Amino acid sequence: MSVNVIFGSDAGATKAVAARIAKRVQGKAIDVAKATTADFESCSLLILGSPTYGAGDLQTDWEFGGLDKLAAANIAGKTVALFGTGDQASYPDSFVDAMGLLYDQVIAKGAVVVGFTETAGYDYTASKAERDGKFVGLALDEDGESSKSDKRITAWISQLL
Ligand SMILES: Cc1cc2nc3c(=O)[nH]c(=O)nc-3n(C[C@H](O)[C@H](O)[C@H](O)COP(=O)(O)O)c2cc1C
Repeated sequence: MSVNVIFGSDAGATKAVAARIAKRVQGKAIDVAKATTADFESCSLLILGSPTYGAGDLQTDWEFGGLDKLAAANIAGKTVALFGTGDQASYPDSFVDAMGLLYDQVIAKGAVVVGFTETAGYDYTASKAERDGKFVGLALDEDGESSKSDKRITAWISQLL
């Protein structure tokens, strides 16, 4: 199986998480700022990740350019998994919202999203990344709960593979 992990990152946390995930699945971590449309297509499992900024927004490189590349890619029927980084203590009303925005995009393109996770064990008020009471992917809080990330990543990857 070939895996591309395409991420956006301002301050480096999401980049580091993407590298950790890619290493575990023997995949390639690719910054969305440098990604090509082919990077979205040329893998059997596509993993997309973004931190949330602003009032529940995608990271800048996703907003400006990244979404266009995704829109141009043919990912109909492709297996896609999502992860989001956020800060539930500081932003409890928009925790990992960006992951929900990515979800809407890939679903609209006909992708099959795998790797939903339980919301239990997190402490937040609202998230656009929830569907039917679950997160649409892996939610990580590198600001306040980085000690829990390793276990969360491990469980998620075993769910994916
Ligand atoms: C200005 C600002 C706004 C943020 N807004 C949110 C938010 O709405 N929801 C959330 O879960 N995290 C929010 N965060 C936290 C970041 O998503 C988190 O720190 C993330 O790990 C940053 O990833 P990066 O280092 O890859 O850029 C915000 C952080 C900053 C600095």
